Amino acid sequence: MRAITLTGETDTAGFYAAAAALAQQDVSARDVEWRTLARERDLFAAQDASLAPQRAADADRPPRAFIAATRVMLLHRDPARFALAYRLLHRLKREPNLLQIASDPDVARAGAMAKAVRRDVHKMKAFVRFRALRFSDDTEFFVSWFEPEHHVVAAVAPHFVDRFANMRWSILTPRASAHWDGAALRLAGGATRADAPGDDALEALWRTYFAHIFNPARLNVKAMQLQMPKKYWANLPEAAIIAPLVAGAPARARAMLAAAPRLVAARHACGDPGDRTGGALQGCRRCPLWRDATQAVAGEGPLDAALMIVGEQPGDREDIAGKPFVGPAGRLLDEALARAGVERAKAYVTNAVKHFKFEPRGKQRLHKTPAAAEIDACRHWLDGERALVKPKLILALGASALRGLGLRSASISSLRGSAHALPDATLIATVHPSYLLRLRDEDEKREQWRAFLADLRKAQEALQEL
Ligand code: URA
Repeated sequence: MRAITLTGETDTAGFYAAAAALAQQDVSARDVEWRTLARERDLFAAQDASLAPQRAADADRPPRAFIAATRVMLLHRDPARFALAYRLLHRLKREPNLLQIASDPDVARAGAMAKAVRRDVHKMKAFVRFRALRFSDDTEFFVSWFEPEHHVVAAVAPHFVDRFANMRWSILTPRASAHWDGAALRLAGGATRADAPGDDALEALWRTYFAHIFNPARLNVKAMQLQMPKKYWANLPEAAIIAPLVAGAPARARAMLAAAPRLVAARHACGDPGDRTGGALQGCRRCPLWRDATQAVAGEGPLDAALMIVGEQPGDREDIAGKPFVGPAGRLLDEALARAGVERAKAYVTNAVKHFKFEPRGKQRLHKTPAAAEIDACRHWLDGERALVKPKLILALGASALRGLGLRSASISSLRGSAHALPDATLIATVHPSYLLRLRDEDEKREQWRAFLADLRKAQEALQEL
């Protein structure tokens, strides 16, 4: 009997090298015992952080087709996976078409394992929730506790690096953890639940968010459990409110239907733009921007708001949070609105384009202005929101907003300073707050800020009169 000890549960490079050598010597699968060091340590190689096959020396590499068939299933938690994978490799010598025989019990078992791992990867991407820690120097750090079924942390971590490159975070799990300091990803050993912070403001935010997106008229407990299996509920802050929401759903759905026939009709007519649960808008493929964005960001605010504020497109922060104007431009807008006496909470805030368009630059995602065709493709959703909310006044921030509102040839400078009649509302146009953020000259900045505030005050006055 040969005993092979791998350095960790995700030591696929070690497995492939050992398996290739054993197969070359024609060692039977029955004569090999596969072991791993008891705990996963800081032994993950850098390339471990992806589902890509590990590179062993060329002479030590099993055939490509074998690696392709086993690289995912090797992350399954079943300790017998290494023996199964090696059995496949050994059999391949005499049965070269083995991997094409789906009914073969070993091939079928390996396929089922890969499927389970892929599902786990998907769940981890969907259900990791970060909690914010604020240090005394006012810096923020985000920590998440998650319990994957399989050894997927190293494989999934790059996904979170892509999504949250600008934040510092740790994902803790019982068998492994991933740490991102804003520049480098480090994979380390497991943690305990107690290492992750408990209830905090971020958690409350998640609860509010979930309660907000929960659509009682669409309640389907089975589908919900399929998407969010109960075993994940323990780690999800929103889980605490699932039961009361489910219990109250029929009554809320009836009340919604009774109180808002206009809303239901409009949702039906425009493909449900108000639904932030990942309904029609999340499935939008009208232009290619959905491919790189985290999610579509719908508008936010009361559905009977008199004021609709239209920006350009979500930025980096909005793309992650799923809410409009929560980043630097949003903070500036908030300050200006407050100074002008406009209550943001009473306005419906949205964008001409619902997906974040950006250009990767190192770890950063730099804003890219949406093309006219992308704004036009997204008009479907803004039109839907206008039909739904029926605002009396629309405040357009920047040229993309104007185009999204159907004003193709108008410019901000030509419209600025007075109110204009649209078929369905009054329009006030001003610059986008990002424009103010980009100005470098202090005098110019002061002057543009004053002009921006004057536009918002005009909007407030118009609101009083409408
Ligand atoms: N800029 C926008 O136009 N919209 C946002 O939501 C954020 C930044």
